[in-house]
Amino acid sequence: MIKLAASILSADFSKLGEEVRTLDEAGADFIHIDIMDGNFVPNISFGIPVVRDIRKHTKLTFDVHLMIEEPSKYVEQFVKSGADIITVHYETDRHIDRTLNYIKSFGVKAAVAINPGTPVNMIKNLLTTADMVLIMSVNPGFGGQKYIDYSYDKIREVKKYADEIGRDILIEVDGGVDSTNIKKVVEAGANVVVAGSAVFKNGDIKKNIELLKGSI
Ligand code: DX5
Ligand code: ZN
Repeated sequence: MIKLAASILSADFSKLGEEVRTLDEAGADFIHIDIMDGNFVPNISFGIPVVRDIRKHTKLTFDVHLMIEEPSKYVEQFVKSGADIITVHYETDRHIDRTLNYIKSFGVKAAVAINPGTPVNMIKNLLTTADMVLIMSVNPGFGGQKYIDYSYDKIREVKKYADEIGRDILIEVDGGVDSTNIKKVVEAGANVVVAGSAVFKNGDIKKNIELLKGSI
């Protein structure tokens, strides 16, 4: 079963509660929440109180993607604000194995993300611990960028390594996914697909989600 994770980075922040309810009714599986600190990535999005407040509007899985330095410092606060999955970037944490176990100690799912420029090999050992791997298919920081083609190979590589150790992990792909490439992303091995601009474009969320799901 493929999960569609709708990224609220492309939502109207002045009515986030309503946007999240619309995503829920329209059939999104996860709410993908991009946290940016203006340091690890060249953009600032929103923080912990926003996650806490939108939690009241849906029971959907909160898939929190931390694009911040020193992510382990904030794990507990994101758990308390309602995160179900917490993703930290390999590039931001010298002790990523410890952080993944720390996240799991709160009873939520732990995920590791890699930037386009980071080879899959760097996180191979973490596949024994991580509940999910997030392959960035754009350089993180902004919605609406073009999918980087070599990401397909990286998805296949994660899937191969996970199969080798018999782990049925979540493989998430984030950035530049739309109705023209979602099938190929899933065929490569992704089972969680993030979409931001493809979900919110032209304001018809329900139609966009139907198109994305129907294109798999
Ligand atoms: C980018 C974020 C993505 C972004 C995806 O740094 O991590 O989640 O919202 O947006 P689209 O689907 O528009 O590429
Ligand atoms: Zn993201």
